[in-house]
Formats: sequence, structure tokens, C-alpha cells
Amino acid sequence: MAVPIAENVYWVGAVDWDVRHFHGYSYHTHRGTSYNAYLIVDERIALVDTVMRGFEEEMLRRIAEVVDPARIDYVVANHGEPDHSGAIPAVMALAPQATLVHSKRAAESLGKYLPDGWKRQIVGTGDTLPLGRKTLAFLEAPMLHWPDSMFTYIPEDRLLLPNDAFGQHLASAERFADEVDPAVLWDEARKYFANILTPFSKLILRKIEEVQQMGLEIATIAPSHGVIWRENPVQIVEQYVRWARGEARARALVVYETMWGSTAEMAHAVAEGIASAGVEVRVLPVPQTDHTTVVGELLDAKGIVLGSPTHNRRMLLNIAALVEDLVGLRPVDKIGAAFGSHGWSGGAVPLLEKGLKEAGIEVVQEGLALAWRPTPQERTQAVAWGWTFGERVMEALK
Ligand code: FEO
Repeated sequence: MAVPIAENVYWVGAVDWDVRHFHGYSYHTHRGTSYNAYLIVDERIALVDTVMRGFEEEMLRRIAEVVDPARIDYVVANHGEPDHSGAIPAVMALAPQATLVHSKRAAESLGKYLPDGWKRQIVGTGDTLPLGRKTLAFLEAPMLHWPDSMFTYIPEDRLLLPNDAFGQHLASAERFADEVDPAVLWDEARKYFANILTPFSKLILRKIEEVQQMGLEIATIAPSHGVIWRENPVQIVEQYVRWARGEARARALVVYETMWGSTAEMAHAVAEGIASAGVEVRVLPVPQTDHTTVVGELLDAKGIVLGSPTHNRRMLLNIAALVEDLVGLRPVDKIGAAFGSHGWSGGAVPLLEKGLKEAGIEVVQEGLALAWRPTPQERTQAVAWGWTFGERVMEALK
């Protein structure tokens, strides 16, 4: 069903209950997702964003509950990524007179996906599109999530449509944040920020400041994934500020891969040591724990220690893939260290340290490399090494 979210404004998107991988296999969508499109019915009719290809019929059915899709005058593409623009051709096929509205940069991202021949209007910050009683106002938001991204704002409803920003990969029958389990909501909002928006943290802080300086009144934030923030929407904005600043608590992750169990033994001892320093610790073996979860857990942790045995003088493949993910994401203001066991020759620990540094994570103590299986004395050494890391976490939070 089309769901009213303001007077004559309707959610007409699609719920993807089945998807478990997004952006290729880089994001594990544990609870599915939604592609949110919004229909504004006025003297002129606008559709802000569409859905992923394959979900066109679901969206068009919802639009048709409100108006004949052939009457749409404007299709606004806030962002060119195919999860939001994939159904534009289906809409334009029914409403060929409609004007496609997007940012200047979206001409590049949409260019090779969409045919020529439609009416187009390029908009930027400060531009408005009067629909009758309502107005669409545009605000460019480069890198939230792509250079082409922009927000659409309806001042008459104090309604912000920020596309990817403030979203969650969460499929639900409910459409509003206040209707879903808060633990589920914040878990998904956190994973989403950590895995998608972390590299753009500085830009997020600047954009939020810009919106505040513009004095935009916001009663509702309706993102293009997940549920809509209608009660106290400032809560997600304030949370974004904390995440983008890298605010963390006395928490550390011990993330490791093991071959014959020795690095796992070390990981458990290290975790014991960290906890004895008064730091909350999470022990996350990979690949049993997927990258999306690890990165989400890291968002409000201050520290991360990575462990891997040495195999062919390298680290194991799943921890290597996690390191690659971290290098791309560049978590904000974290500290780290590395450990691992080895047999005939070492090599994994310095590679883990190199990866931490490339990810912008400060390596705060010498790595712990042990040969073969830890002896009882070496186990004690690993506990002490963990305690030292826990102390570093506490110091870094002062
Ligand atoms: Fe939901 Fe950047 O697309």
C-alpha cells in the first residue's frame, strides 16, 4: 500500500525482503532492505527517487493507488546509483512527458544507464521547483553517497528526502522508525553508517553544519532505505555527528582468523587481558563473523586488535579481506595492534600492522608473534599484552 507520510506525500517504494548482499558481496544485508520512492501530489505531480530494477511493478502499483503514473510531471533522481534509479525507465515509459530532474554530476552517473530523449532539468543548491502549494528545494550533497547525490526538501511539510543519508538496510512492514524495535533500528543504522558513510565523515559533519546554518526546519527525515524518522528526527542527525566525529567508548574488538587454533587461543587470552583493564571487549572470529558486522561493531569502539597465523608468509585470506575493507573505509580515530602465531616462519603480524596503518588506525604497541602453540607462559604473556592494549584504550579516551 502507498503510505501517507505528510499531506499528499506518499511512500511508494518497494521492500526487498530477500536481499542478503549489497554492493556486490561487500555489505551483508542481514535484514534485507527497502528502496524508498516518494510521490508528491499537487497541481503538478513529482516522484522523488525510484526503486531498483526488478521492483518497478511494486512501485508502480503503489503509485497507481494514488494517481495514474502517466500523470507524473517530474521524476527527481537524488542519486544515480541503480538501487534508486533502476526503475526510472519504467516510470518514463508511462509518463514520457515528464521531466527528469537531477544534479549536474548525475548526468555522468545516469548517462550510460538511461537513454537520451527525455526532458531533463539540472538543479543545484538553492534551486526550487514549484509544484503548486508545495515546493521542491534542492541541496547538493556530494559524497553522501556519491558525487552526484543531492537532498530534496519540501519546506511546506518540513520534510527532508536525503536519499542514502540517514538510511538503514532494513526490510520491514513498518514504515516509521518509531514503529520498529529500537535495538534492531539502531543496529542497522549503525552498520549502515559504518559500512557506507565512514569514509565521508568529514563531509557529513560539514553538510550537517551547512543545513543547520541554512535554518532548515525538519519535522520528518525520509531516507531512501529503511524506515522514516518522524518522531524526534534530530536523534539520527545527532547520532551521525557523534559517529562522524569518531566518538567512542571504552570498547575494543579482538578480530582474528585461525588455522590450527593457536591464534584463537591467543585471541581469547588477549581478550581476557583487555577486559582486565576495564575495557568492554568483543571477540569476533572471521569468517564466522562477516565484515559488515565487524565494521559495525567497530564504529563506537576505540580499539581493534587483529590476529592471524602466518601462511605462506602472509596473513590468512579472510582477515586480509577485512583489512582491505578497513583500508577503504578509514575508521575515524581508532587505535590498533596485531598478533598471531606462526610455524616455520612469521610474516602475518607486520602485514596486519601495515594494513592497520593504511586504514588510518594508529598502531599503539609492538605486535605479539608466537611460534607454534602458546605455552602456559606465553598464554600469560598474551593476557599481559591484551591488558596493555586495554590501558592504551583507556588512555586514548582521556
Ligand atoms: Fe542506496 Fe548509493 O545507493
